[in-house]
Amino acid sequence: MTRNALFIGGTKGLGHALSQLAIADLCDVSIAGRTAHKCDLVREGRAMPFIVDLESEDMRPWVSMVQYDVIVWAAGIYQDGAFTTLTPNQVMKCCRNHLVGPIALLTALFRSNKESARPCHLVVIGSSSAYRVRTDESLYGALKAAKAQLARNLGKELPRDLPGSKVLLANPGGMATPFWDGRDRDVSSFMDPKDVARVIWDEVRRQDTPFLEIQVIRQADRSPKVEYGPRLPE
Ligand SMILES: NC(=O)c1ccc[n+]([C@@H]2O[C@H](COP(=O)([O-])OP(=O)(O)OC[C@H]3O[C@@H](n4cnc5c(N)ncnc54)[C@H](OP(=O)(O)O)[C@@H]3O)[C@@H](O)[C@H]2O)c1
Repeated sequence: MTRNALFIGGTKGLGHALSQLAIADLCDVSIAGRTAHKCDLVREGRAMPFIVDLESEDMRPWVSMVQYDVIVWAAGIYQDGAFTTLTPNQVMKCCRNHLVGPIALLTALFRSNKESARPCHLVVIGSSSAYRVRTDESLYGALKAAKAQLARNLGKELPRDLPGSKVLLANPGGMATPFWDGRDRDVSSFMDPKDVARVIWDEVRRQDTPFLEIQVIRQADRSPKVEYGPRLPE
């Protein structure tokens, strides 16, 4: 059976690279993001657009008429400067993007699956910043840690409420993606998102447990290495 796969944050970067692998695996792919209609995969007719702004202040409940067998939650933004310089608007933007918006969307999507008793494989893209202390990433790291803990809890809740469901939490290290555009960051030693997507998608395909957490570690030659299980804070 063809699987319906939704990529939240599939317009570029890691989510885009993962979407391409799902298309190659014959999934029916939907790409979610603010610029979904401009995404090359949508323009070429290889994916459906799902236009959404996760930072929207509109708190009306979502209703989804579509059920997805795979949902990849990849969207994210970086923190806009040192903690003491952040304005309330910048703080809210980051919180909405990483947690409030995606949670509102995911709850609606899971409700829709539940009505049809259709299991879902949720793939959460976290970050090594969830456990590693880094300069000027206090809010970003906090939100990534929250996202990771949400994924671990959903690893219990989803299989209970939607039998057959699975959750994969993947925490990558640095990747050379548009995430860093306009920032003074040398990404020449960062991983290629296509390489990271390949190792994550391999795990998606072979996951046979309700919950799996992996670390996608950046090696000296930029290639990714997978380690299994959670990391203690460093
Ligand atoms: N790059 C790294 O070094 C790195 C390392 C570890 C973890 N990560 C994490 O990996 C994930 C993917 O990052 P990436 O590097 O691939 O980033 P990216 O290239 O900047 O792509 C970000 C994606 O998120 C979507 N997005 C951003 N804001 C959105 C909003 N308000 N509403 C809807 N969609 C939104 C974008 O779509 P639109 O622009 O179309 O809205 C885009 O598809 C993120 O969660 C990031 O935190 C990144």
